[in-house]
Amino acid sequence: MRRREFLLASVAMSAIAPSYCLGRVSFLGVGSAVRSPADAVSSNEALKSVVTPNADFFIRNHFKTPTISEAEWSLEIGGTVAKPLKLSYADLLLTSSVQRPLTLECAGNLSGGRGVSTAVWSGMPLAALLKQAGVEAKATTVVFHGADAGEGEGVPPGTHFARAIPMEKAMDASTLLAYEMNGAPLPPEHGFPLRALVSGWYGMDSVKWLTRVEVSQEPFKGYFQQERYVAVQSNGERHAITRMRVNSKFLRPLDEEEIRGKAYRIEGVAWAGEGKISKVELRFDGKGEWQPAVLGESAVPMVWTAWSYAWNIPRADHYTIEVRATDDAGNGQPMARDPDRRDEYELNTPHRIGVNVRS
Ligand code: MTE
Repeated sequence: MRRREFLLASVAMSAIAPSYCLGRVSFLGVGSAVRSPADAVSSNEALKSVVTPNADFFIRNHFKTPTISEAEWSLEIGGTVAKPLKLSYADLLLTSSVQRPLTLECAGNLSGGRGVSTAVWSGMPLAALLKQAGVEAKATTVVFHGADAGEGEGVPPGTHFARAIPMEKAMDASTLLAYEMNGAPLPPEHGFPLRALVSGWYGMDSVKWLTRVEVSQEPFKGYFQQERYVAVQSNGERHAITRMRVNSKFLRPLDEEEIRGKAYRIEGVAWAGEGKISKVELRFDGKGEWQPAVLGESAVPMVWTAWSYAWNIPRADHYTIEVRATDDAGNGQPMARDPDRRDEYELNTPHRIGVNVRS
């Protein structure tokens, strides 16, 4: 069996393969983290399965997509290491690889927004490369440097995109450097030839167009680390945005869709960052008990879980439906945004849609 065939076979056996959910994702809305001319909103077509096709996967770029030739590109791993490494694209393809489904959500995604998608990624665990480079004991931080730079969105001229994660997360087996997305080389807008994937954390740390991995013993002070992706309280307190919050959304019906009949299968997805979804519930017209939805087969950490609800419709009418999820540590979704927050990240109040039912 060729390597690619073997990899696809192993994915087919994974828990996500049998689950399908149809529906359309809504557009990312306002919010500084998601608005830019460089944002390509995907084709707004139905998601065909729990894995988002590459063409429908959301895109969030701060700068123009850099053009990178695989022949000239290389990845450096340096800083506080005993043996700095330099890898070519060919070296990457020869490195032993892993393949896993992972959900990525933008930290500025709105409730029910389209800034969340799932793909099956191939690459190598970052830990393997860091071990090869011989990380020194005093190192605390790993900085990912991207090839993209520019101005706009208030960014100081010449700034390139870079983000740092703590050594513990860098050494976790789930942190990958990926070169394939759903069995194809990374598309240019998703980071060709190589990107980081910091599983279960909001998308900003999954740096695309990776050129350098810098091991350091100092906190990283880059613009995108200090000025962006920071939670700000009204008293001025700030903390870094890291793990994805518990969240869920409808895939069908769409907001204000008109449907007919007495029964309808409502479908959606729920995710919990590093955690695992344990419960999804729906509520109709903002009153009464929350009703349990049925979870799909893919309730694993780091990957969204499909859910469905068999709705017996009482009568033709207009309904408001909300969805909320809970993870296995008991974390849920807040009914209202913390009024003390001054930033626009970690928005995970329940997704709410309206539906018109005709007889
Ligand atoms: N990496 C680089 N180099 N430049 C960027 O602008 N955007 C980040 C992250 N990695 C970004 C980046 C953000 S904010 C998100 S949400 C994810 O990429 C989006 O990944 P995607 O466009 O593949 O969905």
